[in-house]
Amino acid sequence: MQYDVIIVGAGAAGMMCASEAGKCGRKVWLVDHAKKPAGKIRISGGGRCNFTNINANPHAFISKNPHFCKSALARYSAQDFIDMVERYNIAYHEKKLGQLFCDNSAQDIISMLIQECIEVDVKMDMQTSVTNIDVKDGHYILQTTHGVAECRSLVIATGGLSIPKMGATSYGYQIAKQFGHSIISTNAGLVPLTFQNELLEMCSKLTGLSVEAEISNHRISFAEGMLFTHRGLSGPSILQLSSYWEKGEEVTVNLAPEVDVLSLLKEKKLTAPKQDIQTILSEIIPKRLAAKICENYSFNGRLADFSNLKLEEISCCINSWIIRPSGTEGYRTAEVTLGGVNTNELSSKTMESKLSKGLFFIGEVVDVTGWLGGYNFQWAWSSGYVAGQSV
Ligand code: FDA
Repeated sequence: MQYDVIIVGAGAAGMMCASEAGKCGRKVWLVDHAKKPAGKIRISGGGRCNFTNINANPHAFISKNPHFCKSALARYSAQDFIDMVERYNIAYHEKKLGQLFCDNSAQDIISMLIQECIEVDVKMDMQTSVTNIDVKDGHYILQTTHGVAECRSLVIATGGLSIPKMGATSYGYQIAKQFGHSIISTNAGLVPLTFQNELLEMCSKLTGLSVEAEISNHRISFAEGMLFTHRGLSGPSILQLSSYWEKGEEVTVNLAPEVDVLSLLKEKKLTAPKQDIQTILSEIIPKRLAAKICENYSFNGRLADFSNLKLEEISCCINSWIIRPSGTEGYRTAEVTLGGVNTNELSSKTMESKLSKGLFFIGEVVDVTGWLGGYNFQWAWSSGYVAGQSV
């Protein structure tokens, strides 16, 4: 079997690359070991696929080299993908913060990508694994469960390690290492944080409760929803911060970013000294949360009975609650994998390896990770597109 291009991984990046290469007249074989293509698109965005973000600028991507993503994002922008979605008459809406979701189903995006591949005769084989790769006379020779195949350009689009039960593997990193690439150490990103002891007890008692909260560490801050779960904390602001969190580090939670709690309590102490502290806190944060904080820290009684020092302590529990996560839920529930193929060894214009001509890495397998909110798919589209243009 002779092809111009073989792409391993029929996910977001692989399918984009395949259709683009096909449009450029390349004979393309797209293989994947899963039963169906684009499993992660199917489950993404709660089944509605947050397919891009209209603010998809380089600042929203994490990488050892923050400049690497710029070229691909500029050559294939969020607007380029939106144009394709509109050409297919797929109904979509902005949920918030520039996040675009399908009105109906993520399947609309998958069907669109499959159609794009069909139109340019991409051969797609699912349930196909590559068992060995060799190079001979500038060609890649692949042993696969579908026989031996040869190509001039080989694209690795096997994604990251998150959600192993969906077929995520370390295959892309293995191939990178086989061809001399280094890997920026990987870690679960966009993942819930877990706790132990009293904090775990508190979170599990409040399971299901969500608040608008600002979560910070020394590097960054995110203000969005936060959700208590039976394992710890989740919700957009926690997931975002998790990508910047290092084990052992403290996190500061502002449970009422819009309210200066100390000033409010001092003022109330003068105007309503008989009011109960729990009642006042329930006006600022959800009642269940106020009750739990008062129980945990033994804040009881009328405002008049609290010293200003005590009011400071109470306000700190709301405006700057300092917590130390014990870990994360790991790859089992992570939306993405941080780290990956070292970008210093890839061309930022084409995603081609600087070490092995004709070898390309695209999508999540590369050390480029986006924020929550459609950025990761945009990276898959952009990196897939630029590689597809040059394979
Ligand atoms: P992707 O994982 O999509 O595809 C890799 C493909 O390679 C898979 O089809 C896999 O089967 C195949 N493969 C792996 N190993 C192989 C091997 N050894 N041999 C053959 N094939 C192999 N992002 C976003 O922007 N908006 C969103 O709404 C969401 N939502 C979301 C929800 C959940 C639950 C998760 C887990 C993730 C998201 N994401 C997201 C992240 C997004 O899904 C992810 O970043 C992209 O799918 C990455 O695209 P890739 O094509 O690089 O990998």
